[in-house]
Amino acid sequence: MMPGNNLLTVRSLGMRFGGIQALTDVNFDIPTDSISALIGPNGAGKTTVFNCITGFYRPSAGDIDLTVGGHSQNLGKLLASKLLGGSHRIARHGIARTFQNIRLFREMTVLENLLVAQHHSLNHNLLSGFFRTRGYRDSEQTAIDHAIRWLNVVGLRDCANRLSGTLPYGHQRRLEIARAMCTHPKLICLDEPAAGLNPRETEDLATLIRQLRQNHGVTVLLIEHDMGLVMGISDHIVVLDHGKVIAKGAPHEIANSPAVILAYLGVDEKTDTKAKTQ
Ligand SMILES: Nc1ncnc2c1ncn2[C@@H]1O[C@H](COP(=O)(O)OP(=O)(O)OP(=O)(O)O)[C@@H](O)[C@H]1O
Ligand SMILES: [Mg+2]
Repeated sequence: MMPGNNLLTVRSLGMRFGGIQALTDVNFDIPTDSISALIGPNGAGKTTVFNCITGFYRPSAGDIDLTVGGHSQNLGKLLASKLLGGSHRIARHGIARTFQNIRLFREMTVLENLLVAQHHSLNHNLLSGFFRTRGYRDSEQTAIDHAIRWLNVVGLRDCANRLSGTLPYGHQRRLEIARAMCTHPKLICLDEPAAGLNPRETEDLATLIRQLRQNHGVTVLLIEHDMGLVMGISDHIVVLDHGKVIAKGAPHEIANSPAVILAYLGVDEKTDTKAKTQ
């Protein structure tokens, strides 16, 4: 495979929190236009990988490169910039995310949440906002139109003026996806998007994720404990355990990997019970 076919490459990634080595020598690639999954038992380091990719953490070691249209960007260098918060810089370069614990502005409407997300890409400054110049009004209208388009895609058009904190949980998860997509990402990182959803909502989520890749040109990386969902929609799976990659491959390879089965089932009864509850 040509190197340009990978949207993201993660090389020798390490993350240490004081005495805890959360990630050790993590290596994997995310092929452009793929749906890829990052799985592993609780505490394996999955969210920490997301936090490194999306600029919430500065890795202790290693490199993460994003390659778009043959042009590679080292995310560590973007993070080192002091001009803007690291995660905002990375968002501008095409990586968006959702959170394991939903982080919406609960006291704002659904529409307002999507407008705030676009704020950094709006083409105006403080003065043009104050005087409500033509350019300002145009860009504001473009942002509203864009938000409404995304509300239609995720099926929340009728909720545009509701306070987001009053939405049912499954709708909040979809709103988070719309909010991430509003920033025109090349890569969307979904942290446990099916957590708390019922089987019907999980099926709808699978359809939405496929649509994102097919109709909106985004590469998807998801963390998920719902193995039915992961096996059903992923082209490619990376398995973490205790901060290390223990397997990578297609769903059927992962499902039959002895190392993965051992990591999930564990060797004693305590870990076994944990695996069954996931
Ligand atoms: N900010 C932090 N400070 C200290 N330790 C942290 C921090 N973030 C993560 N960790 C530790 O890193 C390890 C990996 O945590 P992480 O949240 O990445 O796991 P996970 O695979 O996402 O687990 P889960 O499936 O439960 O969400 C854990 O031991 C966790 O306690
Ligand atoms: Mg997590």
